Amino acid sequence: MATLVSAPGLRSRKSSGRPIVMVTAYDAPTARIASDAEVDIILVGDSVANTVLGYDDTLQVTVDDMVHHVGAVARSRPEPMIVADLPWLSYHTGAADAVRNAARLVRAGAGAVKLEGGRKRVAVIEALVDTEIPVMGHLGLTPQSVHAMGGYRVQAKELEAARTLVDDAMALARAGCFAIVLEGVPASVARRVTESVPVPTIGIGAGPWCDGQVLVFHDLLGLEDRVLPKFVRRYASLKADATKALAAWTADVRNGEFPTDAESYHVSDEVMGDLRRPRGVGEDMEIPPSARRLGTLGR
Ligand code: KIV
Repeated sequence: MATLVSAPGLRSRKSSGRPIVMVTAYDAPTARIASDAEVDIILVGDSVANTVLGYDDTLQVTVDDMVHHVGAVARSRPEPMIVADLPWLSYHTGAADAVRNAARLVRAGAGAVKLEGGRKRVAVIEALVDTEIPVMGHLGLTPQSVHAMGGYRVQAKELEAARTLVDDAMALARAGCFAIVLEGVPASVARRVTESVPVPTIGIGAGPWCDGQVLVFHDLLGLEDRVLPKFVRRYASLKADATKALAAWTADVRNGEFPTDAESYHVSDEVMGDLRRPRGVGEDMEIPPSARRLGTLGR
């Protein structure tokens, strides 16, 4: 059973020797799986764009999309804490917009929100924390900045960029973030960040020395068979299994082997005998007056 699944509980896991486990989920069945697997946090990530909604990047996702998916996850009543991504443009236009949009995610069932970016987000983070909404930061490779970064590249490989990353992480912690995702940064830089901040770091493509790890549900379980980045370990091949299963059912239908008698409903022989007998005089089909008026069952 997952324990301490609240922002303060997770924050106190820093350096506890019990790594935090977070996985994305976007609907009720994936949330139930994550909950039964006893992860600590379900992230309703804006990666829903790529994994579920068929977009090429996360910039297409709206607050309405996120509310829809957070609601579906929350209605499955999972044990883990639900963290919801604030999508692009939902917090870049000022603290008031950020609070209003984050409140929608909280009302849909999130226990915290996640946003991308370093020191320039401090005012927004403080406003959210001020309205009692726990905030998770996200640094390093931040997919909402794909155009500004010039593509999806490993970040903080040079000294100045690594120093900036450490400073940004410290600023986020000071502003009140209860945890920080580090994505796509060298392992030793992520270790330095982890040693520098008083809140847990949760890595994705950031090596083994973070205080926790996160992966995308569809990558981890092979629900897509696209080429994966090197940091993903695939624990199942659900797409291959599902395709095989659907192909088997297709063949059974075409061969007349589905459904069997055991997979069908039945009525008594008596009802069937009467059903086969032609209707007698005066046993005409009952036609409701409304249908007669509309002429839908006209003779
Ligand atoms: O949206 C997402 O899935 C994420 C993870 C990659 C951390 O932000």
